[in-house]
Amino acid sequence: MNQNRITQLFRIKHPIIQAGMVWASGWRLASAVANAGGLGLIGAGSMYPEVLREHIKKCKAATDKPFGVNVPMLYPDLDKIMEIIIEEGVSIVFTSAGNPKTWTAHLKENGITVVHVVSSVKFALKAQEAGVDAIVAEGFEAGGHNGRDETTTLTLIPSVKEKISIPLIAAGGIATGRSMLAVMVLGADGVQVGSRFVASNEASSHILFKQKVVEAGEGDTQLTLKELAPVRLIKNKFYQDVQRAYENGASVEQLKELLGRARAKRGMFEGDMDEGELEIGQVSALIHDIKPAALIVAEMIHEFEEAKVQVSKL
Ligand SMILES: Cc1cc2nc3c(=O)[nH]c(=O)nc-3n(C[C@H](O)[C@H](O)[C@H](O)COP(=O)(O)O)c2cc1C
Repeated sequence: MNQNRITQLFRIKHPIIQAGMVWASGWRLASAVANAGGLGLIGAGSMYPEVLREHIKKCKAATDKPFGVNVPMLYPDLDKIMEIIIEEGVSIVFTSAGNPKTWTAHLKENGITVVHVVSSVKFALKAQEAGVDAIVAEGFEAGGHNGRDETTTLTLIPSVKEKISIPLIAAGGIATGRSMLAVMVLGADGVQVGSRFVASNEASSHILFKQKVVEAGEGDTQLTLKELAPVRLIKNKFYQDVQRAYENGASVEQLKELLGRARAKRGMFEGDMDEGELEIGQVSALIHDIKPAALIVAEMIHEFEEAKVQVSKL
Protein backbone atom coordinates (compact mmCIF):
# COMPACT_ATOMS: atom_id res chain seq x y z
CA MET A 1 0.00 0.00 0.00
CA ASN A 2 1.00 3.64 -0.39
CA GLN A 3 2.93 5.58 2.22
CA ASN A 4 0.85 8.08 4.18
CA ARG A 5 1.09 10.44 7.18
CA ILE A 6 1.19 7.57 9.68
CA THR A 7 3.74 5.38 7.89
CA GLN A 8 5.93 8.46 7.45
CA LEU A 9 5.53 9.61 11.06
CA PHE A 10 6.68 6.25 12.45
CA ARG A 11 8.89 5.19 9.50
CA ILE A 12 6.98 1.92 9.04
CA LYS A 13 5.75 0.00 6.00
CA HIS A 14 2.09 -0.59 6.91
CA PRO A 15 -0.18 1.77 8.91
CA ILE A 16 -1.03 -0.98 11.40
CA ILE A 17 -0.26 -0.35 15.05
CA GLN A 18 -0.34 -3.24 17.48
CA ALA A 19 -1.94 -1.79 20.61
CA GLY A 20 -0.14 -1.65 23.93
CA MET A 21 -2.03 -4.10 26.13
CA VAL A 22 -1.60 -5.10 29.75
CA TRP A 23 -0.45 -8.71 30.19
CA ALA A 24 -0.34 -9.24 26.40
CA SER A 25 2.15 -7.01 24.63
CA GLY A 26 5.72 -7.52 25.74
CA TRP A 27 8.87 -7.43 23.59
CA ARG A 28 8.02 -10.66 21.73
CA LEU A 29 4.78 -9.31 20.28
CA ALA A 30 6.08 -5.77 19.71
CA SER A 31 9.21 -6.96 17.86
CA ALA A 32 7.25 -9.50 15.78
CA VAL A 33 4.90 -6.75 14.57
CA ALA A 34 7.79 -4.35 13.97
CA ASN A 35 9.61 -6.97 11.90
CA ALA A 36 6.40 -7.52 9.90
CA GLY A 37 6.27 -3.86 8.91
CA GLY A 38 3.75 -2.54 11.44
CA LEU A 39 4.35 -0.57 14.63
CA GLY A 40 4.69 -2.76 17.72
CA LEU A 41 4.01 -1.29 21.16
CA ILE A 42 5.22 -2.63 24.49
CA GLY A 43 2.42 -2.23 27.05
CA ALA A 44 4.00 -0.63 30.14
CA GLY A 45 0.72 -0.76 32.07
CA SER A 46 1.43 -4.16 33.59
CA MET A 47 5.19 -3.73 34.09
CA TYR A 48 7.30 -2.55 36.99
CA PRO A 49 9.83 0.03 35.74
CA GLU A 50 12.78 -2.37 35.63
CA VAL A 51 10.66 -5.01 33.88
CA LEU A 52 9.84 -2.41 31.24
CA ARG A 53 13.58 -1.70 30.83
CA GLU A 54 14.19 -5.42 30.20
CA HIS A 55 11.44 -5.52 27.58
CA ILE A 56 12.80 -2.44 25.80
CA LYS A 57 16.31 -3.92 25.72
CA LYS A 58 15.05 -7.27 24.40
CA CYS A 59 12.88 -5.54 21.79
CA LYS A 60 15.88 -3.54 20.55
CA ALA A 61 17.84 -6.78 20.24
CA ALA A 62 15.00 -8.50 18.36
CA THR A 63 14.33 -5.81 15.75
CA ASP A 64 16.10 -2.95 14.03
CA LYS A 65 12.69 -1.47 13.10
CA PRO A 66 10.93 1.30 15.06
CA PHE A 67 8.78 0.28 18.02
CA GLY A 68 7.09 2.19 20.84
CA VAL A 69 5.83 2.00 24.41
CA ASN A 70 2.23 2.50 25.57
CA VAL A 71 1.95 4.24 28.94
CA PRO A 72 -1.44 4.41 30.69
CA MET A 73 -0.96 7.53 32.82
CA LEU A 74 -2.72 6.04 35.83
CA TYR A 75 0.57 4.28 36.49
CA PRO A 76 1.98 4.79 40.02
CA ASP A 77 5.67 4.90 38.95
CA LEU A 78 5.07 7.24 36.04
CA ASP A 79 8.19 9.39 36.61
CA LYS A 80 10.40 6.32 36.66
CA ILE A 81 8.69 4.81 33.60
CA MET A 82 9.22 7.98 31.57
CA GLU A 83 12.84 8.23 32.76
CA ILE A 84 13.53 4.69 31.55
CA ILE A 85 11.84 5.35 28.21
CA ILE A 86 14.09 8.37 27.67
CA GLU A 87 17.25 6.65 28.95
CA GLU A 88 16.68 3.66 26.68
CA GLY A 89 16.20 5.88 23.65
CA VAL A 90 12.63 4.79 22.81
CA SER A 91 11.49 7.04 19.97
CA ILE A 92 7.69 6.61 20.12
CA VAL A 93 5.31 6.82 23.11
CA PHE A 94 1.55 6.30 23.15
CA THR A 95 -0.01 7.78 26.29
CA SER A 96 -3.51 6.91 27.47
CA ALA A 97 -5.87 7.31 30.43
CA GLY A 98 -4.76 10.73 31.59
CA ASN A 99 -4.11 14.34 30.68
CA PRO A 100 -1.91 14.67 27.56
CA LYS A 101 -0.62 18.03 28.83
CA THR A 102 1.29 16.39 31.68
CA TRP A 103 4.00 14.61 29.68
CA THR A 104 3.82 15.59 26.01
CA ALA A 105 6.19 18.59 26.13
CA HIS A 106 8.83 16.76 28.17
CA LEU A 107 8.75 13.71 25.89
CA LYS A 108 8.93 15.84 22.77
CA GLU A 109 11.87 17.86 24.15
CA ASN A 110 13.62 14.50 24.32
CA GLY A 111 12.96 13.84 20.65
CA ILE A 112 10.10 11.39 21.20
CA THR A 113 7.08 11.15 18.89
CA VAL A 114 4.00 11.33 21.13
CA VAL A 115 0.56 9.91 20.41
CA HIS A 116 -2.39 10.14 22.80
CA VAL A 117 -5.43 7.82 22.98
CA VAL A 118 -8.90 9.42 23.26
CA SER A 119 -12.50 8.29 23.07
CA SER A 120 -14.23 11.58 22.25
CA VAL A 121 -13.91 14.70 20.11
CA LYS A 122 -13.47 16.83 23.24
CA PHE A 123 -10.38 14.92 24.32
CA ALA A 124 -9.05 14.73 20.77
CA LEU A 125 -9.03 18.53 20.69
CA LYS A 126 -7.30 18.66 24.09
CA ALA A 127 -4.64 16.25 22.89
CA GLN A 128 -4.05 18.22 19.69
CA GLU A 129 -3.75 21.39 21.80
CA ALA A 130 -1.22 19.65 24.05
CA GLY A 131 0.99 19.22 20.99
CA VAL A 132 0.84 15.48 20.33
CA ASP A 133 1.97 14.22 16.91
CA ALA A 134 -1.08 12.01 16.31
CA ILE A 135 -4.23 10.78 17.98
CA VAL A 136 -5.71 7.35 18.49
CA ALA A 137 -9.51 7.61 18.58
CA GLU A 138 -10.89 4.49 20.22
CA GLY A 139 -14.52 3.47 19.84
CA PHE A 140 -16.84 1.89 22.40
CA GLU A 141 -16.46 -1.61 20.96
CA ALA A 142 -12.76 -1.74 21.89
CA GLY A 143 -11.30 -4.15 24.40
CA GLY A 144 -9.86 -2.97 27.70
CA HIS A 145 -10.55 0.35 29.40
CA ASN A 146 -12.84 2.58 27.50
CA GLY A 147 -14.53 5.99 27.32
CA ARG A 148 -17.74 6.82 29.14
CA ASP A 149 -19.59 8.26 26.16
CA GLU A 150 -20.20 4.99 24.35
CA THR A 151 -19.36 6.49 20.95
CA THR A 152 -18.74 3.72 18.45
CA THR A 153 -15.84 3.73 16.00
CA LEU A 154 -18.21 4.32 13.06
CA THR A 155 -19.32 7.63 14.56
CA LEU A 156 -16.16 8.62 16.42
CA ILE A 157 -13.68 8.55 13.54
CA PRO A 158 -15.52 10.94 11.18
CA SER A 159 -16.44 13.17 14.15
CA VAL A 160 -12.81 13.48 15.25
CA LYS A 161 -11.66 13.86 11.65
CA GLU A 162 -13.95 16.88 11.24
CA LYS A 163 -12.22 18.67 14.12
CA ILE A 164 -8.54 17.79 14.08
CA SER A 165 -5.79 18.28 11.53
CA ILE A 166 -3.04 16.00 12.89
CA PRO A 167 -2.79 12.31 11.82
CA LEU A 168 -5.59 10.10 13.10
CA ILE A 169 -5.40 6.43 14.07
CA ALA A 170 -8.66 4.50 14.46
CA ALA A 171 -9.11 1.84 17.16
CA GLY A 172 -11.95 -0.35 18.33
CA GLY A 173 -13.41 -3.23 16.38
CA ILE A 174 -10.66 -3.48 13.77
CA ALA A 175 -9.29 -6.96 13.14
CA THR A 176 -9.49 -7.40 9.37
CA GLY A 177 -8.32 -5.67 6.21
CA ARG A 178 -11.91 -4.78 5.36
CA SER A 179 -12.51 -2.99 8.66
CA MET A 180 -9.14 -1.25 8.18
CA LEU A 181 -10.28 0.03 4.79
CA ALA A 182 -13.62 1.11 6.26
CA VAL A 183 -12.07 3.33 8.93
CA MET A 184 -9.59 4.77 6.45
CA VAL A 185 -12.51 5.72 4.22
CA LEU A 186 -13.98 7.45 7.29
CA GLY A 187 -10.84 9.56 7.65
CA ALA A 188 -8.28 7.54 9.59
CA ASP A 189 -4.64 7.45 8.46
CA GLY A 190 -3.94 4.18 10.26
CA VAL A 191 -5.35 1.61 12.66
CA GLN A 192 -4.56 0.45 16.18
CA VAL A 193 -5.43 -3.20 16.62
CA GLY A 194 -5.74 -4.77 20.07
CA SER A 195 -7.93 -7.84 20.48
CA ARG A 196 -6.75 -9.50 17.24
CA PHE A 197 -3.16 -9.50 18.54
CA VAL A 198 -4.15 -11.04 21.89
CA ALA A 199 -4.88 -14.21 19.89
CA SER A 200 -1.36 -14.30 18.43
CA ASN A 201 1.44 -16.73 19.20
CA GLU A 202 3.69 -13.97 20.50
CA ALA A 203 1.20 -12.36 22.94
CA SER A 204 2.14 -13.07 26.55
CA SER A 205 -1.53 -13.70 27.40
CA HIS A 206 -2.32 -17.10 28.96
CA ILE A 207 -3.23 -19.76 26.40
CA LEU A 208 -6.61 -20.32 28.09
CA PHE A 209 -7.40 -16.63 27.60
CA LYS A 210 -6.35 -16.77 23.95
CA GLN A 211 -8.64 -19.78 23.46
CA LYS A 212 -11.48 -17.95 25.22
CA VAL A 213 -11.04 -15.06 22.77
CA VAL A 214 -11.29 -17.48 19.84
CA GLU A 215 -14.45 -19.06 21.31
CA ALA A 216 -16.15 -15.72 22.07
CA GLY A 217 -19.13 -14.89 19.88
CA GLU A 218 -21.20 -11.79 19.23
CA GLY A 219 -22.67 -10.49 22.48
CA ASP A 220 -20.16 -12.24 24.74
CA THR A 221 -18.50 -9.01 25.98
CA GLN A 222 -19.90 -6.07 27.91
CA LEU A 223 -18.67 -2.70 29.12
CA THR A 224 -18.94 -2.60 32.90
CA LEU A 225 -17.56 -1.05 36.11
CA LYS A 226 -18.27 2.43 34.79
CA GLU A 227 -18.11 3.86 38.31
CA LEU A 228 -14.46 2.80 38.63
CA ALA A 229 -12.94 2.79 35.14
CA PRO A 230 -15.20 1.51 32.33
CA VAL A 231 -13.81 -1.74 30.97
CA ARG A 232 -15.04 -4.21 28.36
CA LEU A 233 -14.94 -7.78 29.63
CA ILE A 234 -15.88 -11.27 28.60
CA LYS A 235 -19.02 -12.31 30.49
CA ASN A 236 -17.39 -14.91 32.75
CA LYS A 237 -18.09 -15.71 36.41
CA PHE A 238 -16.31 -12.58 37.65
CA TYR A 239 -18.44 -10.46 35.29
CA GLN A 240 -21.61 -12.19 36.59
CA ASP A 241 -20.50 -11.44 40.18
CA VAL A 242 -20.17 -7.76 39.23
CA GLN A 243 -23.67 -7.82 37.71
CA ARG A 244 -25.09 -9.38 40.87
CA ALA A 245 -23.39 -6.68 42.93
CA TYR A 246 -25.07 -4.02 40.75
CA GLU A 247 -28.47 -5.70 41.19
CA ASN A 248 -27.91 -5.56 44.95
CA GLY A 249 -27.16 -1.84 44.74
CA ALA A 250 -23.41 -2.08 45.43
CA SER A 251 -21.62 1.15 46.33
CA VAL A 252 -18.43 2.28 44.60
CA GLU A 253 -16.49 1.05 47.64
CA GLN A 254 -18.12 -2.38 47.39
CA LEU A 255 -17.35 -2.57 43.66
CA LYS A 256 -13.71 -1.67 44.39
CA GLU A 257 -13.57 -4.37 47.00
CA LEU A 258 -15.08 -6.93 44.63
CA LEU A 259 -12.56 -6.01 41.92
CA GLY A 260 -9.73 -6.27 44.43
CA ARG A 261 -6.17 -6.28 43.23
CA ALA A 262 -4.56 -8.08 40.32
CA ARG A 263 -7.82 -9.38 38.77
CA ALA A 264 -6.57 -8.63 35.28
CA LYS A 265 -3.30 -10.46 35.84
CA ARG A 266 -5.17 -13.40 37.37
CA GLY A 267 -7.36 -13.79 34.33
CA MET A 268 -5.36 -12.73 31.30
CA PHE A 269 -1.87 -13.75 32.42
CA GLU A 270 -2.40 -16.56 34.93
CA GLY A 271 -5.33 -18.14 33.11
CA ASP A 272 -8.05 -18.11 35.78
CA MET A 273 -11.06 -17.99 33.43
CA ASP A 274 -13.63 -17.80 36.27
CA GLU A 275 -12.25 -15.31 38.79
CA GLY A 276 -10.06 -13.22 36.50
CA GLU A 277 -10.88 -10.00 34.63
CA LEU A 278 -10.84 -10.85 30.91
CA GLU A 279 -10.50 -7.68 28.83
CA ILE A 280 -11.37 -8.05 25.16
CA GLY A 281 -13.24 -6.21 22.41
CA GLN A 282 -16.52 -6.95 20.63
CA VAL A 283 -14.43 -7.93 17.61
CA SER A 284 -13.43 -11.14 19.42
CA ALA A 285 -16.55 -12.50 17.68
CA LEU A 286 -14.58 -12.29 14.41
CA ILE A 287 -11.37 -13.87 15.72
CA HIS A 288 -11.34 -17.58 14.97
CA ASP A 289 -7.73 -18.66 15.40
CA ILE A 290 -4.45 -18.06 17.19
CA LYS A 291 -1.66 -17.33 14.73
CA PRO A 292 1.72 -15.59 14.35
CA ALA A 293 1.59 -11.80 14.56
CA ALA A 294 3.39 -11.47 11.21
CA LEU A 295 0.63 -13.48 9.55
CA ILE A 296 -2.03 -11.24 11.11
CA VAL A 297 -0.31 -8.19 9.61
CA ALA A 298 0.21 -9.84 6.21
CA GLU A 299 -3.41 -11.07 6.01
CA MET A 300 -4.80 -7.69 7.00
CA ILE A 301 -2.80 -5.96 4.28
CA HIS A 302 -3.74 -8.58 1.69
CA GLU A 303 -7.44 -8.30 2.54
CA PHE A 304 -7.20 -4.49 2.59
CA GLU A 305 -5.80 -4.47 -0.95
CA GLU A 306 -8.44 -6.96 -2.18
CA ALA A 307 -11.22 -4.93 -0.58
CA LYS A 308 -9.97 -1.78 -2.31
CA VAL A 309 -10.37 -3.53 -5.67
CA GLN A 310 -13.86 -4.77 -4.74
CA VAL A 311 -14.92 -1.30 -3.65
CA SER A 312 -13.66 0.25 -6.86
CA LYS A 313 -16.20 -1.93 -8.74
CA LEU A 314 -19.21 -0.77 -6.72
C1 LIG B 1 -6.25 -7.21 26.79
C2 LIG B 1 -6.24 -5.74 26.51
C3 LIG B 1 -5.43 -4.91 27.27
C4 LIG B 1 -5.37 -3.54 26.99
N1 LIG B 1 -4.52 -2.74 27.71
C5 LIG B 1 -4.34 -1.44 27.36
C6 LIG B 1 -3.34 -0.64 27.96
O1 LIG B 1 -2.58 -1.09 28.82
N2 LIG B 1 -3.23 0.66 27.56
C7 LIG B 1 -4.03 1.19 26.57
O2 LIG B 1 -3.87 2.37 26.23
N3 LIG B 1 -5.00 0.45 25.99
C8 LIG B 1 -5.14 -0.85 26.34
N4 LIG B 1 -6.08 -1.62 25.67
C9 LIG B 1 -6.82 -1.03 24.54
C10 LIG B 1 -6.00 -1.21 23.27
O3 LIG B 1 -4.83 -0.42 23.34
C11 LIG B 1 -6.74 -0.88 21.95
O4 LIG B 1 -6.99 0.50 21.85
C12 LIG B 1 -8.02 -1.65 21.80
O5 LIG B 1 -7.80 -3.00 22.09
C13 LIG B 1 -8.52 -1.51 20.37
O6 LIG B 1 -9.73 -2.16 20.19
P1 LIG B 1 -9.88 -3.71 19.71
O7 LIG B 1 -9.62 -4.52 20.94
O8 LIG B 1 -11.29 -3.79 19.26
O9 LIG B 1 -8.86 -3.94 18.64
C14 LIG B 1 -6.16 -3.00 25.95
C15 LIG B 1 -6.98 -3.85 25.20
C16 LIG B 1 -7.01 -5.21 25.45
C17 LIG B 1 -7.87 -6.10 24.60
